[in-house]
Amino acid sequence: MSATAQTPAPPRAAGAAEPRRGLPPGPRGPAALNLLRLSERPLETLLEWRRRYGDCFTVRYPVFGTGVYVADPQAIRALHTGDQSDLRAGEANAPLGAVVGPRSVLVLDGSEHLRQRRLLLPPFQGSAVTAFRAVIQDVAAREVASWRPGERFVMRERMRALTFEVIARAVFGVEERARIERLRHALVAVLDAQYVFLLPPRLLRDLGPLSPGGRVVRLLRAADALLYEEIARRRAAPDLDARTDVLSLLLRARDEDGTPMTDAELRDELMTMLLAGHETTATALAFAFDLLPRHPAVLARLRDELAAGDEAYLDAVVTETLRLRPIIDANQRRLTRPRVVAGWELPAGVSVYPAIALVHRREDLYPRAGAFRPERFLDGRAESYAWLPFGGGIRRCIGAALAQAEIAEAIRAIVSAVELRPLRERPDPVVLRGVTLVPRHGVPVEVARHTAPA
Ligand code: HEM
Repeated sequence: MSATAQTPAPPRAAGAAEPRRGLPPGPRGPAALNLLRLSERPLETLLEWRRRYGDCFTVRYPVFGTGVYVADPQAIRALHTGDQSDLRAGEANAPLGAVVGPRSVLVLDGSEHLRQRRLLLPPFQGSAVTAFRAVIQDVAAREVASWRPGERFVMRERMRALTFEVIARAVFGVEERARIERLRHALVAVLDAQYVFLLPPRLLRDLGPLSPGGRVVRLLRAADALLYEEIARRRAAPDLDARTDVLSLLLRARDEDGTPMTDAELRDELMTMLLAGHETTATALAFAFDLLPRHPAVLARLRDELAAGDEAYLDAVVTETLRLRPIIDANQRRLTRPRVVAGWELPAGVSVYPAIALVHRREDLYPRAGAFRPERFLDGRAESYAWLPFGGGIRRCIGAALAQAEIAEAIRAIVSAVELRPLRERPDPVVLRGVTLVPRHGVPVEVARHTAPA
């Protein structure tokens, strides 16, 4: 327990209502059953718990412990904008540390987190996103050009290849095909072995190449060697000052004291951006292509508006996809001292889960919330705490603009060139795998017809 865990809750503002003490009610079943239900039917389970217990409820899980879900946007705003020193997100992400490393923005808290975040943010803002778009358009066009009518594939797998290449080129700044393939091979092996990091630390020890710990140590070593090689090459690149990829911008960045990032920091953040940005974006695209072909009127309008040069509907499709199919069901914050959340004074040690998936399904914010209706976003942008696919506050997703550009450009390239037919009769069930919501079958599709002129 950290030193701050002993500190009493700060005094309340005069006139504020007396908070309730203890934990809000929630499902009483065994912790393992709660986790099983959440894993296999996450959206239905969360909606059912909210129906029963209201906007704030407590759930017990094995390993993760006791957590309180919050589905009220105002309470989430208060949580994200108030004092953050008692909310530990880095600590909650600790199991990822074995892959992303100890200097990753994901596993740090407090001033160390803010330092990394300030260095990482600028390469993802403003004109940088315009430069990313050109890369994404190129990658997406080439991917779609390789599809043949009658071909069948699992959309999420194809989109993983696409989003890996975007990260390799836009973030790592690697252009040569052979180098991208080498990186893909080594890094995807690490990502695919992630589950091993959920094992207890004693099983993670390197007990030879055949032990789970030994295998991941070797995979990580191979991936690190390539990452350090790219960093060294880039440091020596004669055109470093003119380059716009994220790694080059990070090499030129300085913190408030004028200190540049070390190679070890750069390695950890490259791995972080890959881990945080590759599969998440691929999954969002797979969901988009589970929804679009099942809504022919939406698809027809999207094509018409794109043909007329209007981008607004495309943006609305991206926004609505991320609302109805968020990739992260809830963020996680661990309380290091008591804190009033949604009218409850919660004790230190519990987790608070701002429930993204539940906010997105509120009927008061989104009439017919279960329906896929992009036009609901045509009249204006979603209010910030009503639409939370990228979280909020000082941990909001750094790659949000890149991810949205990527989803939009890939959708544009695909719907402009091909017709995709879902191979499953019903929408792919949403399940929780690791920390993300994914389509259980990865959205199998068939390329039905090329719509582009031959
Ligand atoms: C559809 C795609 C994506 C989704 C849904 C998504 C979602 C999120 C969410 C919800 C968080 C906040 C976690 C929290 O509050 O604890 C987050 C953080 C983060 N994301 Fe993303 N993300 C996506 C793509 C990306 C991409 C493309 C990158 C970078 C290339 C990226 C990099 C990061 C980083 C570095 C953080 C940690 C920020 C911090 O702790 O300060 N993400 N993401």
